[in-house]
Amino acid sequence: MRKGILSIAAAGLMVTGTLAACGDDSGGDSGSGTDTKSAKVGVILPDSASSARWETADRKYLEEAFKAAGVQYDIQNAQGDKTQFQTIAEQMITSGVTVLMIVNLDSGTGKAVLDKAKSQGVATIDYDRLTLGGSAQYYVSFDNVAVGKLQGEGLVKCLTDMNKQKPVVAELNGSQTDNNATLFKEGYDSVLKPKYTAGEYVQGPDQWVPDWDNAQAGTIFEQMLTERSGKIDGVLAANDGLGNAVISVLKKNNLNGKVPVTGQDATVQGLQNILAGDQCMTVYKAIKQEADAAADLAISLAKGERKDTTQTVKDPDGNRDVPSVLLTPKAITKDTVKDVVADGFVTKAELCTGNFATLCTQAGIS
Ligand code: BGC
Repeated sequence: MRKGILSIAAAGLMVTGTLAACGDDSGGDSGSGTDTKSAKVGVILPDSASSARWETADRKYLEEAFKAAGVQYDIQNAQGDKTQFQTIAEQMITSGVTVLMIVNLDSGTGKAVLDKAKSQGVATIDYDRLTLGGSAQYYVSFDNVAVGKLQGEGLVKCLTDMNKQKPVVAELNGSQTDNNATLFKEGYDSVLKPKYTAGEYVQGPDQWVPDWDNAQAGTIFEQMLTERSGKIDGVLAANDGLGNAVISVLKKNNLNGKVPVTGQDATVQGLQNILAGDQCMTVYKAIKQEADAAADLAISLAKGERKDTTQTVKDPDGNRDVPSVLLTPKAITKDTVKDVVADGFVTKAELCTGNFATLCTQAGIS
C-alpha cells in the first residue's frame, strides 16, 4: 500500500519532470521574458471553510515551492467572497504580478479575473478548478472524474462489506458552480447509476450543496433523513467537510458507523472519522505534487517560456483544449490511513490526539 502512494508521487514528479524537459531554456534567468528575480506570482485561494486543504496544504506547499525557486509570491484567500476575489485580483495585477493563479469561486467571476489579467499582459493558471469559458494558459488539477469513481467504488465496497440489501443511497454533491463537483458526480454516478438501474440499489435524495457549505450540508442531510423516515443506508458525500456534517447528523440519530459515508481530501477530521469507523473512505490527493506542478508552470510563464504539457482538458464553454497537468488520486480506508501519514501529508501528532491515539496504534500508525 505504501508503494501505491509512492507511485502517485513518482507519477507526479514524472509529469513535472516532463514539463521541465520541454522548452526549459536551461539558462535560468536568460529567457526571453521576465527573469526569476523580477517574477512575482499571485495566488488566490477560494476560502478556508469548504475544505481544510486550502490553508493547511495548498498554501504551505505553494509557499515552499516558490521559496525553493527564489520567486516572489503573494498568496491570498478570498474567504468565499466573489467581490473580494475580484478586488484581490485587481490589487495583485496593479501591484505587478507577472503570473496570476486562481481557484475560482465560480466560472463567471473567474473568467472576469482571467480576462482582466490577460488584457494587462499577466499570464494565468487555473489551479485545481477549471474556469469554464476562461482564458487561463494552463490548468493544474487531479483527474476529478477518477476522484468521483473512487468515491463511488469505495461506497459500494463498504455497503457490500456491511451486507446491505437494496440500500437507499443519498448523494450530497459539492457546489454546483464548481466544475470539479460536476466531474466528481460524473465519476460516482458512473458507478452508482448502473446499480440503481439494475435495482440493486435504490436511488435516494440527491442534492448540490451551495458553496460546499458544511453547515447547509448538515441541514440538507437532516431533511433527507426525515423525509425518508431514517431509511438511508449509504451516503455519497463529495468531500470530508460534507461527510463530517452528515456524520454529525447520523450521530444524533445513533446511526453513525451503521451508514457508510464517503469523503475527499484526507483532512485530519476525515481521517479521524475513518479511524473511528464513522466514515467509510476518503480520497487522498497529493497536493504537494499539484502545488509543485503549478509553481513550476508559473515560474516558466514568468520567464516568458511556454512549456508543453502531456495532457489537455476540453473546456466545453470556451470550446478550447486547455494544456493541463492532471494528477492521480488514491482511495484511503482504515487500513491505509497510515499511508497518508507516511507520505507526510498529515502528521501523527495532529492525527493521533486524545482518544485517537489508541485507534492510531490499532491502524498501524507509528
Ligand atoms: C476541490 C476539493 C475541495 C472542494 C471544496 C474542490 O474544487 O477539488 O478538494 O474539497 O473544492 O473546497
